[in-house]
Amino acid sequence: MYSNMMKFTFIWSFIFALTIQTICSFEYKHHSNEELNQSLQDVHHKCPSITRLYELSEKSVNGWPLTVIEISTNPGEHELLKPEFKYVANMHGNEVLGRELLLRLADYLCNEYRNNNVDIQNLVNNTRIHLLPSLNPDGWELATANLDQNHGSDWLLGRSNLNGIDINRDFPDLDLIAFRHGDKDDFINTLIYHKMQPETRAIVVWLLSNPFVLSANLHGGALVANYPFDETPDGSMNTYTPSADDTTFLHLARTYATNHRRMSHSGTACDQDEDFGKQGGITNGAAWYSVAGGMQDFNYLATNTFEITLELGCDKYPPESQLSKEWEDNKKALLEFINQAHIGAKGLVRDENGMPIDNAIIRVQNITDGVNQIINHDISTTKNGEYWRLLTPGLYEIMAAKSGYLPEVKTVSIEPRNTTATQAKNVHFVLRNLFE
Ligand SMILES: *[C@@H]1O[C@H](CO)[C@@H](O)[C@H](O)[C@H]1NC(C)=O
Ligand SMILES: *[C@@H]1O[C@H](CO)[C@@H](O)[C@H](O)[C@H]1NC(C)=O
Ligand SMILES: *[C@@H]1O[C@H](CO)[C@@H](O)[C@H](O)[C@H]1NC(C)=O
Ligand SMILES: *[C@@H]1O[C@H](CO)[C@@H](O)[C@H](O)[C@H]1NC(C)=O
Ligand SMILES: [Zn+2]
Repeated sequence: MYSNMMKFTFIWSFIFALTIQTICSFEYKHHSNEELNQSLQDVHHKCPSITRLYELSEKSVNGWPLTVIEISTNPGEHELLKPEFKYVANMHGNEVLGRELLLRLADYLCNEYRNNNVDIQNLVNNTRIHLLPSLNPDGWELATANLDQNHGSDWLLGRSNLNGIDINRDFPDLDLIAFRHGDKDDFINTLIYHKMQPETRAIVVWLLSNPFVLSANLHGGALVANYPFDETPDGSMNTYTPSADDTTFLHLARTYATNHRRMSHSGTACDQDEDFGKQGGITNGAAWYSVAGGMQDFNYLATNTFEITLELGCDKYPPESQLSKEWEDNKKALLEFINQAHIGAKGLVRDENGMPIDNAIIRVQNITDGVNQIINHDISTTKNGEYWRLLTPGLYEIMAAKSGYLPEVKTVSIEPRNTTATQAKNVHFVLRNLFE
């Protein structure tokens, strides 16, 4: 027999448990800009030792902070050879699914880390993850305020920032320089003289001050994973325009598409002409339509970051009732894509005294099956002498070089990743100083 006291305790602990659950469980809804902040704060309070909130260097035109949640075992610090990853969403203010997915992802990573989910712990222990749920909070407000009146969302309203500029056309156009084989100085001049919106500038500063390895930019309005280049060299509307890393980008885009529940299936087209499912749910950006001044190509050409663009669904502003299903459809893809920061090789470039060599170049030649093909896209080392070189399985010659030093070449076999804990192959270099 229960005593009344025991019953009393039992009932109260039950109510208490329910309350805790309500406080901690994620609510699927369209979070306003204040609620977005609160949602990230909640995650931080639940998981203070593996999260940190910070703002990009500039606010939106209307003064909203561009808030990032970092998820890593050493928040606020880059750890030697640990790759940095980012997701950016809601750059087009009226494309809102990515924003909600990133809020959910932050909450999920925190919960599962605490629940000792081994895959999530491996992912978070081995990767420094940055999530920017909204790059265009002003556009989001405009789109949201006009929802009812349009019986749904407008195709364009809220897409641009508050000055009417499309952020995904506002980046310095480095493609044109790359196509005419311009050098680093041409890139730098373009950067200096290009006038940018505050949101764009915030991203450029962020990109140039962190050694991001891999990234995706989350959009809506179609269902496809889009990879570089986004711009055609001759101004034509649609021509397949491969980057030097086409093989790796195909792999990255496919990783998202095939781990998404529908993206790689045919018959999921948003528009009769565009059944991307028939081609596995992926497309080269310029083969679809040419974009100048986009963020994806800027990542690849100005930095060491490989970025793809994810179109997450036909409906740019899906109803709240769809959000939990969308999370289930995207969850595995979002996680598996982050894990791709660990493909290929990484390592340190040092001199004979063990001092790091910064700005050394890492050049790769593909020698798989006897081809001898230089991948014409050098990666440069960080101030710690680190590099990460995303590559698909195969046989490569990797060269580290810096003027004043004797270059070193190593033959490296890259194997497929076997487990979610597999990291990039360590390939270190020691360069002899020619003037010592
Ligand atoms: C976000 O929330 C924190 C904590 O509640 C608060 O101090 C901060 O002012 C909020 N920022 C914005 C932009 O609402
Ligand atoms: C992740 O790192 C934490 C903190 O160092 C450690 O306690 C945990 O066991 C690690 N998890 C895995 C799966 O290695
Ligand atoms: C390397 O070459 C092989 C053989 O031609 C090819 O299948 C593969 O896609 C290439 N890999 C990369 C990363 O370019
Ligand atoms: C994956 O497993 C195969 C077969 O056991 C092994 O040869 C290969 O080295 C492993 N790859 C990595 C990256 O550990
Ligand atoms: Zn978009």
